[in-house]
This record gives sequence, structure tokens and C-alpha cells, in this order.
Amino acid sequence: MSLKSIQRKRGYTKYVVDKRLCYYEPSRDKLQKTFAQELSSSLAQKQKSIHPKFFYDKKGSQLFEEICKLPEYYLTRTEIGILTQLYDKLPSHLNGDFRLVELGSGSSKKTRILLSILERLHKHIEYFPIDISKILKESSTILLDDYENLHITGIIDNYESGLEFIKNYDNKKNLIAFLGSSFGNFDYEHGLIFLQKVNSSMKKNDLFLIGLDLVKDKTVLEYAYNDSQGVTAKFNLNVLSRINSELDGNFNINKFAHHAFYNEYKNRVEIYLRSLENQTVEIHKAGMVLPIKQDELIHTENSYKYTISKIKEIFSMSGFRIKDIWFDERRYFCLVLLSKND
Ligand code: AVJ
Repeated sequence: MSLKSIQRKRGYTKYVVDKRLCYYEPSRDKLQKTFAQELSSSLAQKQKSIHPKFFYDKKGSQLFEEICKLPEYYLTRTEIGILTQLYDKLPSHLNGDFRLVELGSGSSKKTRILLSILERLHKHIEYFPIDISKILKESSTILLDDYENLHITGIIDNYESGLEFIKNYDNKKNLIAFLGSSFGNFDYEHGLIFLQKVNSSMKKNDLFLIGLDLVKDKTVLEYAYNDSQGVTAKFNLNVLSRINSELDGNFNINKFAHHAFYNEYKNRVEIYLRSLENQTVEIHKAGMVLPIKQDELIHTENSYKYTISKIKEIFSMSGFRIKDIWFDERRYFCLVLLSKND
């Protein structure tokens, strides 16, 4: 991939790859806490934790792709099924020219369904993926080959900054998609802050499409996060390998076990790494010497499951109006289409 030009704009450097592809990257190293800094605080708490965003190094992203194909992991398959229904159901909501903005430009299969819907409505289609990962560049090139009238503007940044970027970009309407139940990682308080952020970045006629996993039978949920092939366990343990290689740590992954269960009182799957013995781990680049007791749990993820009444509550509290809501036959998962309330 060769670059045609580079220019600076609003704190971003714009890289023009060709007529149909450009991307923006923050010009300055934004004062973000590093992996080492975040860990040295989260692992020093009484309840040790590692933030789930750290799962996704190269290996972790590959393992997540594998999770999506597992028979027990119904989420991805179910959401794709609902998206397929939208070929007939979404167009009536799309009056005028919409571009697709995707938060966490996840799986290209889902993106393709939405792009194909837009392609039937408009001659030119535009796609703005917002993702912290640079994989964005590779996946974009593949999409361009398949959609002749597609123009892509990638934003390599976190969701909040990406939303800020599109906020005043132009007058074209945005269909913002946040799929895959990624929202499930937020607890209610942070989820609301995030939704308010999305809301305030939207123009009057913009739309927001979000995928949420629903409360269901405990056994179905626990199988989804404790698959028989142990891929989810590998995915969870991989974060320790990542700490070892990037921060010069000495976790022995054989001394930890994957632990996931559904907490019915909090409507969330909780995921941990359980220490199999008393041990001391060092993370040199974070300056940490960490005693860990046998059976002590390191929290790595929450995955919240929603009820319809909770869905109504969070969206009304964050200034949205529900325009439509679509389910699969089993009511395992839903897609919610929202507009600004004012
Ligand atoms: C990417 C947050 C939607 O919560 O189901 C899958 C991540 N973790 N298996 C989820 C995950 C373990 C996933 N999300």
C-alpha cells in the first residue's frame, strides 16, 4: 500500500492511500495511559483486574475470531441472522443519504450486510470505520475490491475521539453501528456515559444501531463462555502471555485457569483467571512484584445481558428514542435502532 499524500487536520494526520481510501491517525501521542501504567494500578487493587480491551493483541484477535465460530457462542451467528432481516426492514428508516460509521470495525461479514443495504439505496456509499487497531487498513482494502462505489475514511482512534471527529465533519447523515454486544463490556454507569457521548455526537437525523445480548437461560450463557474446545479459556489466558511478552512478565499460564459464570443478580457473565497455587509474579516493565494466593481471582471481563425493560430504561435515560427493535426467533439477541430524542 503506497501513500499518495499526507496532511494534518484537527490533531490528526490524514493519509491518502488513493481516491477511495484515506485514514486519520492522531498526530500526537495522545496522553493515554500505557498498558504498563493501567496494569500497575488495576493489579494493585484488592480485587485484581485486567481490562478486557487488552485481550485484543494479534493472537487475541485471532482467538476471538475462533470464538465467534464456536457452536456454543451463539452471539455472532444470531446477530448476523438479525442483520440479514434488515435487508427488508432497514430501508424504510433510511430517508436520504446515509453513510455507515462503525464503532470497532469488527467483523467484515456484518459490515458487508450493512454496506449492501446502503448500496441498493445509493449510487455512492461511504464507510467510516472507527477502530484503535491498525488492521482497519487491511480490512478496508479488501472491502474496496468488492464494492466498486465505496469510499472509505478510516479513523484510527478510540470510540470517544472517533465520535468527536465525526461530530462536526459534515452535513451528511450518519448511521452509527455498534455491533457484537461490545456494549456488554460496560457496566451501567459507564454504559450511560458512553451512550450520552454517542448521542451528543449525533445530528438530528442520524441513526444509531446497537447489538445487545439478552438475558436467557443460565446454562446457554455458561456454555457460550465455557466452550468444550477450550478456545475461550485460551483467549482469556492469552492476556497473561501478552503481559509476558510486552511488559517482560513471568506469568506461568499453566498456573491459572479460566473461570466464567453467569451472575443472575447482576445479569452479567463474569470472567476471571483463577490462580491454581500461591505464587509470586513479576512484571518488570510495570515495576510490579505481585503475590497471588491459591484460588484468587483476577477479573478480566464482564459481559452484560439485557432485558427489554432495561433497554428501554438506558436509552431513554441517555436521550434516545427507540425507532425499532429486531430479534431472532429465540429472542437470544437484539438490534436496536435509535434516533436522538429532541
Ligand atoms: C466482544 C465483549 C462481545 O462479551 O461475548 C467472548 C467477548 N469474551 N468470549 C462477549 C468475549 C469471551 C465478547 N464481546
